Amino acid sequence: MAKHVCQIVLLFLFVMFLSVSTAEHLESSQVQILLKIKHLLNFPPVLKTWNHNTDFCNTEPLTVVCFEQSITQLHIVGDNGASRLPDNFSIDSFVNTLSKLPSLKVLTLVSLGLWGPLPSKFTSLSSLEIVNLTSNFFEGNIPPIISSLEHLQTLILENNNFTGILPDGIGSLSALAVLNVKNNSLYGNLPRSLGDLENLRVLVLSNNNFSGEVPDFSGLTNLQVLDLENNVLESRFPVVGDKIERVVLRNNKFTFGIPEKVQSYYQLKLLDISSNRFVGPFPVSLLSLPSIIYLDIAGNKLTGMLSENAPCNDELYFVNFTANLLTGKLPSCLMSDSKKRVVLYAGNCLETGDENQQPISFCKNAALAVGILPRSYKQKQASKVILALSICGGVIGGIVLLSVTFLVVKNFLAKRAAQKPLTRYTAENASTSYTSKILKDARYITQAMKLGALGLPAYRTFSLEELEEATNNFDTSTFMGEGSHGQMYRGRLRDGSYVAIRCLKLKRNHSTQYFMPHIELTSKLRHHHLVSALGHCFEYYLDDSSVSRLFLVFEYVPNGTLRSWISERRVRRKLTWAQRIAAATGVAKGIQFLHTGIVPGLFANNIKITDVLVDQNLVAKISSYKLLLLSDNMGKLLDANEASDVKHIHLINRAKHQDKLDIYDFGVILLEVISGKPVNSRSEVEAVKYKLQASITADDASRKNLVDPAVKNSCSGESVKTMIEICCRCLLEDPAERPSIEDVLWNLQFAAQVQDSWRGDSQSSETSPISPMKSSHLKLTIRQ
Ligand SMILES: *[C@@H]1O[C@H](CO)[C@@H](O)[C@H](O)[C@H]1NC(C)=O
Ligand SMILES: *[C@@H]1O[C@H](CO)[C@@H](O)[C@H](O)[C@H]1NC(C)=O
Ligand SMILES: *[C@@H]1O[C@H](CO)[C@@H](O)[C@H](O)[C@H]1NC(C)=O
Ligand SMILES: *[C@@H]1O[C@H](CO)[C@@H](O)[C@H](O)[C@H]1NC(C)=O
Ligand SMILES: *[C@@H]1O[C@H](CO)[C@@H](O)[C@H](O)[C@H]1NC(C)=O
Ligand SMILES: *[C@@H]1O[C@H](CO)[C@@H](O)[C@H](O)[C@H]1NC(C)=O
Repeated sequence: MAKHVCQIVLLFLFVMFLSVSTAEHLESSQVQILLKIKHLLNFPPVLKTWNHNTDFCNTEPLTVVCFEQSITQLHIVGDNGASRLPDNFSIDSFVNTLSKLPSLKVLTLVSLGLWGPLPSKFTSLSSLEIVNLTSNFFEGNIPPIISSLEHLQTLILENNNFTGILPDGIGSLSALAVLNVKNNSLYGNLPRSLGDLENLRVLVLSNNNFSGEVPDFSGLTNLQVLDLENNVLESRFPVVGDKIERVVLRNNKFTFGIPEKVQSYYQLKLLDISSNRFVGPFPVSLLSLPSIIYLDIAGNKLTGMLSENAPCNDELYFVNFTANLLTGKLPSCLMSDSKKRVVLYAGNCLETGDENQQPISFCKNAALAVGILPRSYKQKQASKVILALSICGGVIGGIVLLSVTFLVVKNFLAKRAAQKPLTRYTAENASTSYTSKILKDARYITQAMKLGALGLPAYRTFSLEELEEATNNFDTSTFMGEGSHGQMYRGRLRDGSYVAIRCLKLKRNHSTQYFMPHIELTSKLRHHHLVSALGHCFEYYLDDSSVSRLFLVFEYVPNGTLRSWISERRVRRKLTWAQRIAAATGVAKGIQFLHTGIVPGLFANNIKITDVLVDQNLVAKISSYKLLLLSDNMGKLLDANEASDVKHIHLINRAKHQDKLDIYDFGVILLEVISGKPVNSRSEVEAVKYKLQASITADDASRKNLVDPAVKNSCSGESVKTMIEICCRCLLEDPAERPSIEDVLWNLQFAAQVQDSWRGDSQSSETSPISPMKSSHLKLTIRQ
């Protein structure tokens, strides 16, 4: 009985249902539209049942949904891999036809072979909430007017061939929850307005050609899926709200570190940041995020020490650490017996005992080499880098820092050509290889230098982004000159300070490690009288991450060369005698530092007056000390493959008296400082030197006649004599007879002292940086 009642009720319900459906029979005009659509789509198989008699609102599978006799949803999903509609297809007529269904809220047109640009007319379907045009052949731009579809919640344009930029107006679609433009040919910067889409839950921009920075996404508080895979985004890790479940940044050029915020993504299930340029510490706590099941950080330069007892989430089934700079031991929780878990870690420096790990030194060096630190970490870590630099092993080489102005470069090269070159480099003999003892000593040198006692910021790594910003993308207006090894640019950093940036284009096949000894040395060459290196930046080839360009960043010395203050024809204002002595003293102190301030010293620096720059306080700074990285020898070695063996680089002749080569060059500079005439060739040196030598035994007046007429009336006779004497001694043929740099300095200081106390000098004594000393002591020292 009860069963009967039940059946009757069911029957009743069925009849009711039928009557409701019949009430939704479409008007014939709408039926016409649907049949026209079938025609325009070239009769796709999926619509083969459609005809005049079809009850469209009740088809199976569901294609049309009706509400109160109008069509609100249209779902047409063609065969997978459907080909492009024939040439007589017109997207315009198709969209025109669609637009006669103004109540459409949901439109799915998948795999139908639609092609052509999406017509603006599309937006006349103003009720649209969900649009899914996956796997068609749309091309051209996404029409900016799409932003007028104010009810749009879901926009899926996946697997088409849209090009151009993502229109900014998309950011004004405030209801948008899903935006998917995966696998198109879109490019350019992502519109900033994307960050305003508060309701966005899914953002998939993968497989396009988007570039530049990811805008600030911190306002995307509801975002659950962020997929930026396979673009060319150069950006820091995009921070989003903490509802995020899936972050895929794979295959881009993301840099900087993983932000701390990631460690609070409690719903994060999948994190794939592989094949980017992330640097800095890998936060081990990611392994134990409560939801994490998939973690791929492969192919970055993440550092940090893993420890055996680090915890990990039980559900974590995939971990790829491959090709990073991790050290320490694999957490044992990853090695647990669970057969299902995949853990890959080759190409790190882990203590696993298998041979696909690098030695620890590799990771340490490479970690130093990666140029990029998260901005917020920079201050903190810069000093760590320095510390690490001084600890890190390796062999020290030298580098020639080319001069800082175009003029200087030109002069330098011209003169090198004009002058009979002195033999500067000979092959190193075995006994002079750089022992670990020397390297150990090297780290105790001049604490002050490391810690910015020069008023310089600590040596640090720069990001390419930062240098691009500083030079307005290496704009020609910032170009200062070009030497044989690359270009020099002037840049302005965010803090307003100017820097000189030398850009070295490098041959392939060199990892950062290859350059580390040189970088290490460069970072130590900081002194009041050297144009000091502020930092460096590596740029890598994308495919094999060998170094493509090396940028060396130096302090910018704005006031021209020493020559331009002494003997250039268009000289601005000539230095006074006291200022000349001070400048010469500065150069000598710079040389002294190169010889003794670092271990091993840098000798044979081939310093010219045009390599001495003058800053705003008239402090002389040597800009062209020997950085072997830039020298010709290095250039040759860079071509040869065996160059990866750093030991080959050390070609400095450490024979006896090598320091005296610099003394000779200093003598040449003094000649010019004294005479006020440019001295460019060996024969000019000989001629002026001869005159000076002859004057030593003559009287004050004839000596002063050899001094630059611009200053000869304001210099003390004794100081002139001292300067001439030391100059001539520096230029002695026999290197052994030339004075030591200390001797030179004492003489210069004596000359400054007597000049200072000479009342005839109209200049005030403050132009001399030398603090007063007891002249009796000085005399005693000098007239030995
Ligand atoms: C396109 O051409 C095919 C034949 O090649 C024809 O069957 C179809 O009706 C045409 N479609 C339109 C929209 O004219
Ligand atoms: C869009 O269409 C594709 C292909 O049929 C489907 O996989 C996807 O789930 C659709 N998305 C939405 C939101 O309808
Ligand atoms: C990307 O879209 C094109 C059509 O533009 C399609 O041929 C290709 O298979 C798609 N690739 C993927 C990986 O889906
Ligand atoms: C996409 O469009 C570009 C030009 O806009 C074209 O060169 C390319 O072949 C198209 N790709 C596909 C898969 O249709
Ligand atoms: C991506 O853009 C770069 C320049 O922005 C261009 O050189 C490259 O050909 C583009 N690649 C594709 C697949 O469109
Ligand atoms: C792990 O990462 C490496 C390096 O990127 C890659 O070659 C390898 O295919 C990855 N393994 C898996 C299973 O994804």
